[in-house]
Amino acid sequence: MTGHYPNTRLRRTRATAWSRALHRETILTPADLIWPLFVTAGTGVEEPIATLPGVSRWSVDGIVARAKEAVDLGIPVIALFPNTPRELRSDDGGEAHNPDNLMCQAIRAIKDACGNSIGVLTDVALDPYTSHGQDGLVDEAGYVVNDDTVAALVDQAVNQANAGADIIAPSDMMDGRIHAIRRALELHGHANVQIMSYAAKYASAFYGPFRDAVGSGGLLKGDKKTYQMDPANGDEALREVAMDIAEGADSVMVKPGLAYLDIIYRVKQRFDVPVFAYQVSGEYAMIEAAQAAGIGDRDALLMEKLMAFKRAGCSGILTYHAPHAARLLAG
Ligand code: PBG
Repeated sequence: MTGHYPNTRLRRTRATAWSRALHRETILTPADLIWPLFVTAGTGVEEPIATLPGVSRWSVDGIVARAKEAVDLGIPVIALFPNTPRELRSDDGGEAHNPDNLMCQAIRAIKDACGNSIGVLTDVALDPYTSHGQDGLVDEAGYVVNDDTVAALVDQAVNQANAGADIIAPSDMMDGRIHAIRRALELHGHANVQIMSYAAKYASAFYGPFRDAVGSGGLLKGDKKTYQMDPANGDEALREVAMDIAEGADSVMVKPGLAYLDIIYRVKQRFDVPVFAYQVSGEYAMIEAAQAAGIGDRDALLMEKLMAFKRAGCSGILTYHAPHAARLLAG
């Protein structure tokens, strides 16, 4: 209910910092952030990623140091992605099932060092392991086949859970994989391992720097439009989310973030489940580019965008800016 000017002046409550603080509707804290990290082979290795200025791949020891940093900053979860050595990539992405692959090494090392002071979220999809850069198994025609891929993803998920992953996050967009993974986790004694489904993941131009980071960009021919969603579609995203919830997802993700705020909002309004946004690599790079070009202030742009996700209904945000944002929020 809104009155009339001059009895009602909406500027009245905006006049001072204390009053703006008092009337703020949306709160952002470090506990809202998930920090994605890239794992690389070796020891003592830090590899800066050219298309993600300020972000590096770290060897497992460096990943453990980042995890401790996250704990100190109050960031509750880190998300892991491997840059699999080229010689271990294959047509079927078999390295995904190796109990001693980079991901599993990193998960174990973090859990040994940090225990339950941090959650470890792991990506389930085959693209960091395949020689063709697609997220699944490919037939002779180059089509990513659904059901055989789901079987591979189930093995990959169980492999990660056995290593100690807390949240399994399938980013592949195959049909039926949430149900299959949930069932396998229950059977293998991982009833408390969560699933955060990349439920509405779009075939997006914002993923470029990520593909450089995991080394799949140069390998990928064509696109991922036969499994990732058409950016024109909103109703379909609600169907994806409905199915993933029914299949056992504990939380759902919308990806990318800023260009899909309407999807976040609709998902939250319709289903009232925990929703997360992935502010993806291209979104990070655009903020950094704006700062470098002198056409925007990184910190202000970042905080405004993160707040937009919370305002739209997100429980949290995956962002490469997580440590920087947490420091800003700590003042
Ligand atoms: C692939 C995957 C992608 C991202 C996360 N998992 C890229 C893709 O679908 O090609 C993108 C994340 C980002 O751009 O930051 N399974």
